[in-house]
Amino acid sequence: MPENSIPKEAAYQIINDELMLDGNPRLNLASFVTTWMEPECDKLMMAAINKNYVDMDEYPVTTELQNRCVNMIAHLFHAPLGESETAIGVGTVGSSEAIMLAGLAFKRKWQNKRKAEGKPYDKPNIVTGANVQVCWEKFARYFEVELKEVKLREGYYVMDPVKAVEMVDENTICVAAILGSTLNGEFEDVKLLNDLLLEKNKQTGWDTSIHVDAASGGFIAPFIYPELEWDFRLPLVKSINVSGHKYGLVYAGIGWVIWRSKEDLPEELIFHINYLGTDQPTFTLNFSKGASQIIAQYYQLIRLGYEGYQNIMENCRDNAMVLKEGLEKTGRFNIVSKDIGVPLVAFSLKDNSRHDEFEVSAMLRRFGWIVPAYTMPPDAQHVTVLRVVIREDFSCTLAERLVIDYHKGTS
Ligand SMILES: Cc1ncc(COP(=O)(O)O)c(C=O)c1O
Repeated sequence: MPENSIPKEAAYQIINDELMLDGNPRLNLASFVTTWMEPECDKLMMAAINKNYVDMDEYPVTTELQNRCVNMIAHLFHAPLGESETAIGVGTVGSSEAIMLAGLAFKRKWQNKRKAEGKPYDKPNIVTGANVQVCWEKFARYFEVELKEVKLREGYYVMDPVKAVEMVDENTICVAAILGSTLNGEFEDVKLLNDLLLEKNKQTGWDTSIHVDAASGGFIAPFIYPELEWDFRLPLVKSINVSGHKYGLVYAGIGWVIWRSKEDLPEELIFHINYLGTDQPTFTLNFSKGASQIIAQYYQLIRLGYEGYQNIMENCRDNAMVLKEGLEKTGRFNIVSKDIGVPLVAFSLKDNSRHDEFEVSAMLRRFGWIVPAYTMPPDAQHVTVLRVVIREDFSCTLAERLVIDYHKGTS
């Protein structure tokens, strides 16, 4: 920290100049997170920048907006709610916090059941695919739950439901399925998982259930694949997380977790505080946070409506196709993403004798593009892929430009 103050204009200039060296968020094709919102929403967010969300008594309208968001998202996910029933869920900083909370609810419910049965409850485990995002590894380590991962294999990069169900035992707190794998955008088969698990529960007398990590897919599937059954329509799905800041179309800092019903969120995890005024139930890992993201989510939901989200998601899917076809035409890539899934294109080189995927990533960086290259998890770690995430602000012209730059950089 410097000894003396400097004029505000100088401080601004120094920081602004240094930040120019950051990448351009709009060309950051690595991220699922929203980088553009309408100016009207920016205005609402700036107006709320000094509001602490947790001061619910002081900002009751903001709290009401979060509750409306929870309700809208729960209905979108087909939560079995009566006409006047309110949904059970909460806004979080992102899907990671949402997953910690959902995981804790499963762990506590399992422990309570085991205690009541007089059985040991010190070795909980969770079954996932090896393709899970790092937040699941964090959950497992921070909250002392063994992570049992179904291994991938070349050509199959998501959790195999048959193998997952085989791994379930009496200590399994839940199986976590991903709607939109981070690695290739593919939707896992939650319906098949549900059916196989129902069968196993019937045979064993257990009641193992499912959490769906719909960080990306939760705001895609309801709009462009409405017939796909992955949500609370399936009886074993007890909770779902989604990132508001991914295809929920809000800047970084908002996620959601929704429970099927009150019974799925153990009451002892909810804290009641009253020092800010009235009784405030809170179930989050942190306390203070900004209110802007909640307001922005509410803006997007009412501004776009079902129709608006559907148009945007269709557009993203179409642009993903343009890019996929452009890359296929080069004859140099294998596409490892699927047409149904998160609108992204994941691809690997057919021949990497001239350059590998990491070199392609570095070459594209010279043109300003940020396209990550990474290796797949076990047992497909020998496969390296590049991934371009198609967001709302990634136009078809940019998709064509990216292919042209690839040619320029490698010819
Ligand atoms: C499938 C999946 N789950 C969880 C996360 C973590 O989400 P967040 O960044 O909102 O904490 C991600 C992030 O990319 C993801 O892709």
